[in-house]
Amino acid sequence: MKKQIVLLPGDGIGKEVMNAARDVLTAIAEEYNHTFSFETHEIGGAAIDQFGTPLPETTVDACKQADAVLLGAVGGPKWDNNPSHLRPERGLLGIRKALDLYANLRPIKGFKNLLHASPLKEEVVAGSDLLIVRELTGGLYFGTPSERRDNGQSVVDTLYYTRKEIERIVDKAFQAAQGRSGRLTSVDKANVLESSKLWREIVEEKKSQYPDVKVEHVLVDAAAMKLVTNPSHFDVIVTENMFGDILSDEASVLTGSLGMLPSASLNETGVGLYEPVHGSAPDIAGKGIANPVAMILSAALMLRYSFGLETEAKLIEDAVQSILDAGFYTADLQIAEGRKVNTEEMTKLIVDYIRTLNTSKCIASCYY
Ligand code: IPM
Ligand code: MN
Repeated sequence: MKKQIVLLPGDGIGKEVMNAARDVLTAIAEEYNHTFSFETHEIGGAAIDQFGTPLPETTVDACKQADAVLLGAVGGPKWDNNPSHLRPERGLLGIRKALDLYANLRPIKGFKNLLHASPLKEEVVAGSDLLIVRELTGGLYFGTPSERRDNGQSVVDTLYYTRKEIERIVDKAFQAAQGRSGRLTSVDKANVLESSKLWREIVEEKKSQYPDVKVEHVLVDAAAMKLVTNPSHFDVIVTENMFGDILSDEASVLTGSLGMLPSASLNETGVGLYEPVHGSAPDIAGKGIANPVAMILSAALMLRYSFGLETEAKLIEDAVQSILDAGFYTADLQIAEGRKVNTEEMTKLIVDYIRTLNTSKCIASCYY
């Protein structure tokens, strides 16, 4: 299989973890006789520095022509005081909008031997395995106009959705639930927000089309509580952009580290953008200690969703699992036992596993 992949490393640890994903994909390509060609472009702060804009047109054009896009992370203190249109985050929001990536899938599954790394009790997080389907191109993030009024004494952000925008994300979530254990939780604030009332109506309308899916509605505040008190209650959660942003960071504590969570952002034509849930982590950027797993697992999602390469995707996921099982961990995981490794070492362990296909024991024993 021949595929053209655009890499958008972005800022901070984005650059470091992107190298890791590239190494893993190169190993996969060689093992399975695929041709993956990579083209790197700038986004975020790096693009502001180089081109004076967080999202250069050349980047957008390259992404539109690619088979898939991998993104590291954007942002950093250097650009924190920039005006809104010159903030790195604008690049990320802009590329999501330009590619119409309305469906953000964030799978959250606790790794067995990392459960104790979660600040939550092990018995609470055990068995949690959920998928957050976050609407990504509407809501408060894109409502116009966002503006200061009355000489800065008042401010407005708009939560705007069209029926079509809600329908397509709800359909996506029902389909995802069909492929999993058939339970869908729609999260809203229908006791207050008009947008949530329409959201709830649409979920109710759609459910007859998916008789095999069991649907419930949960208010976002209650959902936030349930996520940390009884996470295994959830299978698929569908929700609007801002709620999904907040809940997915919250859900990340189930896995012990934000550094473990991949995400896929999909549109209707199939060009997907894959990125870790974590940010650019300026505090550890440049130290070579970032956890590359979220980025590597994002590359696995790309193989699965954009290229249909299930075997290859699964191998990457198995490799990650085996290396963690063997006791290797990066600095972000609060683990007492095992062996702490840096970004490069973690990547090499995963790559070696892929290249030798099944020798996790050997790899582990070589290091101990
Ligand atoms: C995320 C991030 C972004 C978001 C920021 C960086 C704009 O937090 O992908 O979750 O809010 O969507
Ligand atoms: Mn976020």
